[in-house]
Amino acid sequence: MDKSHRRRSSLRRRPLTATLTREPHRVGPLADRLNGILASRGIDPGVTAEEPSAEPVTALELADARIPARYRRALADQPQVTAWADEIACAGRPGPGGPGIAEGPSLLIAGPTGTGKTYQAYGAVRDLLSRGVRLRWEATTTADLHARIRPRAGHDAERDLQTLARCPLLLLDDLGAAKTSEWTEELTYRLINHRYEHMLPTLITTNLPTAELRATLGDRVASRLAEMTERVVLTGPDRRRTVPAV
Ligand SMILES: Nc1ncnc2c1ncn2[C@@H]1O[C@H](COP(=O)(O)OP(=O)(O)O)[C@@H](O)[C@H]1O
Ligand SMILES: [Mg+2]
Repeated sequence: MDKSHRRRSSLRRRPLTATLTREPHRVGPLADRLNGILASRGIDPGVTAEEPSAEPVTALELADARIPARYRRALADQPQVTAWADEIACAGRPGPGGPGIAEGPSLLIAGPTGTGKTYQAYGAVRDLLSRGVRLRWEATTTADLHARIRPRAGHDAERDLQTLARCPLLLLDDLGAAKTSEWTEELTYRLINHRYEHMLPTLITTNLPTAELRATLGDRVASRLAEMTERVVLTGPDRRRTVPAV
């Protein structure tokens, strides 16, 4: 293969935009040829491809990417929920990058289907992030939790459980809504008990009325929840049926 052929094929392989971005002013025969090709296609070789914005990405923007689309703009407007977020934000430990989340109370948001429990919970997470609280958080529905921690070959379920149990802020959505068994009861107990003992703020939503918590989750979990959580009961119609679908 002659040299000029090799040069031509390497030019073809190289993506135009990359060449344009990295080497807009390179001199020499190769650059001259490239500039000629670009000019013949009506492209100004002096104009570089658009660079990614250098604007800093805020914690809220990063968090928004992890929040399910439906709740990405959620604003906690329930007074007890905003009061809880205030309390957690004020208790934050000072740190170089802003206050970090510390031990604190948990919040149990109860109410019938569609009253806005998950919305308020994500609203609270967003509230904390928008105040600059440094926050490592995880969110899961109870049904997903059961599926995720299910013992299966080649998967370290215990590590997953520990990640959720130790996370500085956990959103446990729809507690008591998934099918239960002795195994799920034990799993929920270990998760709640760890967070109870270490006083790790946990946002819990549930469809269950307080009186049914004990029967569904077991006395050990219900008793800990009674001590560790502040309670909000949402009422009203099912918003999914009354608000026009988006
Ligand atoms: N305060 C609110 N303002 C606007 N939309 C809301 C509000 N609360 C809930 N929604 C919307 O209503 C629907 C049901 O809310 P969701 O939080 O999923 O209910 P739940 O978790 O109680 O079943 C969702 O589409 C949600 O975005
Ligand atoms: Mg929900």
